[in-house]
Amino acid sequence: MISIITVMGSPRRHGNTEKLLDQFIRGVHEEKRSADIHIEKVILRDLDIQPCKGCNACHKAGVCIIQDDAITFYEKIMAANVLIFAFPIYTMSVPAEVKAVIDRAHYIWVRRVKNQLETISKEYKDSHLAFVFLTAGMSLKNRPDLFDAVHPTMSALFNNLGYTQRRGIYADGMDESLGIEGRPELLEQAYQLVQSIVQELVPYDTKDT
Ligand SMILES: Cc1cc2nc3c(=O)[nH]c(=O)nc-3n(C[C@H](O)[C@H](O)[C@H](O)COP(=O)(O)O)c2cc1C
Repeated sequence: MISIITVMGSPRRHGNTEKLLDQFIRGVHEEKRSADIHIEKVILRDLDIQPCKGCNACHKAGVCIIQDDAITFYEKIMAANVLIFAFPIYTMSVPAEVKAVIDRAHYIWVRRVKNQLETISKEYKDSHLAFVFLTAGMSLKNRPDLFDAVHPTMSALFNNLGYTQRRGIYADGMDESLGIEGRPELLEQAYQLVQSIVQELVPYDTKDT
C-alpha cells in the first residue's frame, strides 16, 4: 500500500497553497480506483506544536520531552511512504509553523545520526518519497532566489526522516496571476503528480517498508 501524508502548512485556510495541495489530493482519489493508496491531510495550524526549546534532553535518549502533537505528527510520517509539505514563502523563507515542526524533528536526528540508534537502509530511502509544494507572491523572473532559502531546510528534514526528495511544485508569481487559479498548468501538474509516484513505488513491497 502507498500511504501518503500531506501537510498543509499555510496559516491561511483555502488559499493558494491549500488549493494547490487539494488538486494533488483530487488526483490521488482518482488514482485510488486502480491503486491501493491511503491519504491523509494534516492542517498544521490546527495542531499544538511548540517550538524546540533547545533543552537538548533528546541528546541522551533520543526522545523529545515536550508533550504535544509533534510526536504523533512524526509517528504518522514514519509510518507513511510519501510525504508532501505545502506552504507559502514568508519573508523569503519558511513560515513559522512549518519551521517549528521541522526543528522538533531534532530528536529523530539524534537517534539516527548523533546516537546511531537507528539506521536507514538504501531500500527504505528509495521507497520513501518527499515533495515540497511552494507558493509565493513574487515572480522568479524578478527574484531568481525566491525559493533558495527553503531548499537546505527541507532537504535537511527529508534526509533526517529517510525520505528521498523529488521535484515538487513551485508556484511563483501569485500576485501577478491573481492567485493559483491563474496558473492552471500548475494545478494540472499537481493533479497528475500521483501517477509518477505510483510508478516509482510499484517495484517496492510497500507493505513492509
Ligand atoms: C507574512 C507574509 C510574508 C510573505 N513574504 C513573501 C515573500 O517574501 N516573498 C513572496 O514572494 N511572497 C511573500 N508572501 C506572499 C505569499 O507567499 C503568497 O501570497 C502565497 O501564495 C500565500 O499563500 P496562501 O494563499 O496559502 O496564504 C508573503 C505573505 C505573507 C502573509
